[in-house]
Amino acid sequence: MPSSKITNTKTKSTVTLPESPSEGDRQSLKAVKAGSGDQHINLIDWEEKARAVLPTMAYDYYASGATDEITLKRNRQVYSEILLRPKMLCDVSYRDLSVKLLGQTIAMPILVAPTAFQGLAHKDAELATARAARSVNTIMTVSTLANSSLEEVAAEAPQHLWFQLYVYKDREITKELVGRAAAAGYKALVVTVDSPILGKRERDLRNGFHLPAHLSAKNLSGQGLDEIGSSEKNSGLAAYIASLYDTALTWEMLDWIMSIARLPVLVKGILRGEDAKEAMSRGAAGVIVSNHGGRQIDTTVSTIEVLPEIVAAMEGRGEILIDGGIRRGTDVLKALALGAKAVLVGRPILWALATGGEAGVKECLTILRQELDLTMALSGCATLAEITPDLLKLPLHMK
Ligand SMILES: Cc1cc2nc3c(=O)[nH]c(=O)nc-3n(C[C@H](O)[C@H](O)[C@H](O)COP(=O)(O)O)c2cc1C
Repeated sequence: MPSSKITNTKTKSTVTLPESPSEGDRQSLKAVKAGSGDQHINLIDWEEKARAVLPTMAYDYYASGATDEITLKRNRQVYSEILLRPKMLCDVSYRDLSVKLLGQTIAMPILVAPTAFQGLAHKDAELATARAARSVNTIMTVSTLANSSLEEVAAEAPQHLWFQLYVYKDREITKELVGRAAAAGYKALVVTVDSPILGKRERDLRNGFHLPAHLSAKNLSGQGLDEIGSSEKNSGLAAYIASLYDTALTWEMLDWIMSIARLPVLVKGILRGEDAKEAMSRGAAGVIVSNHGGRQIDTTVSTIEVLPEIVAAMEGRGEILIDGGIRRGTDVLKALALGAKAVLVGRPILWALATGGEAGVKECLTILRQELDLTMALSGCATLAEITPDLLKLPLHMK
C-alpha cells in the first residue's frame, strides 16, 4: 500500500505519512461511524461503541478488572489528580515526538501493550493491530496468548514487534517460544511477572469465559495447548493458566530466560522500586511499570503513583515504560514528566480493533499521538526531553 512523504521546510525533516487504510477496513470503519453518527474524537468514547458491537463475553473479558475493579478505576483517577503547570512562550513551532527505545527510533512514545485474544475483536486479530502499529511507526507487543501465531504477526510488521512471554511450567515450551520470537525477528522479549495465577475476574467467572471454537492460542498449537475451553463455574482462561503456568517462579527464572534469549528482556508487571532494582541487577534491559490494567490483584497502587519510586530505584539504568489507564495525551505527558521513556496502551486498541479493524487501531494511535503533540505545544515542550517534572503539580499522596 502506498505511503506519502512531506517535508518540513523549517527543519528539512521528512515525515512519512501513514499508509491509507485497506478497502475492507475503510468499509468497516465507515459502517461503525455511520452507525454511531459521529467521528472518533477521543479514546474514551470508543469503548461504548465497541460495547455495542461485541458479544458480552468478549466485552467483559476485555473491559474487566479483578474483583471490585478498584485498581482499574484508580489507574485513571490518579492521572486526573496530577495537575499541569504549563510553560509559556517557548517556540513550539516544530515538535519532535520520536523516541529511541532499545536502539530503535519510533515515531512516538506510545506503544501497543500485549493483550490476549484479539480475534474476539476482529477477524484479522493481531495481524490488523500489527499493520496499524507499523503504519504509524510504533511497536506492538504481541501476547503469548495471541490468536495468530507469532510468525504470522511478524510477516505483517517485522520491524515493529516485541514478544510478550508467559512462562510455562514446561520449560521446553517456554524455550521454544523464546527461540521462535528471536527467529521471527522480534526486537525484544517482554516477560510478564505478575501472573503466576490469573486474577479473580468476576465478570469472566459469571460468563464462564472461553474462546469460541474458531479461535485458539495459536502459538501453542504445536504443543496441543492452544484450546481455551470452558470450565464449569470458572473462567476457561483461569483454568488454563492454573494448569500450565509456573507458579514456582523466582528471580532465577529471569536469569534462565536471559541465558537462552538472544533479545533484550523487559520485565513487565513491576510495582516496587526493589523489584525494579533486582531486575536491573540481573541484566534486564528495562522494566514496564504495570498492574496488568487492574486485572490481577485489586486495590494495588496505580501505576503512575508508583512510577517515581521506580525511576529513583533504576538510577538511570535501562528503559522505563508504563501502562494502565492511559487514555489522553495529557496522561502520556504526565508519565513522561515523571520519568517514563514511553507508555503502552491496552484496552483502547481493542475497542478500536473491534469497531474499525486495522484502520480503527491506526486512528486510535493517531488520535493519542495528536493529543500528546497538542499537550506538548500547550505546555511549552518542543521535544520529549523538555518534558520535565516541574511541569506537574502532584497530589499530596504522591509527594
Ligand atoms: C483483554 C486484555 C488482555 C491482556 N492480555 C495480556 C497478556 O496476554 N499479557 C500481558 O502481559 N498483559 C496482558 N494484558 C495487560 C496489558 O498488557 C496492559 O498491562 C493493560 O491492558 C494496560 O492497561 P489499559 O488497558 O488500561 O491500557 C491484558 C489486558 C487486557 C485488557
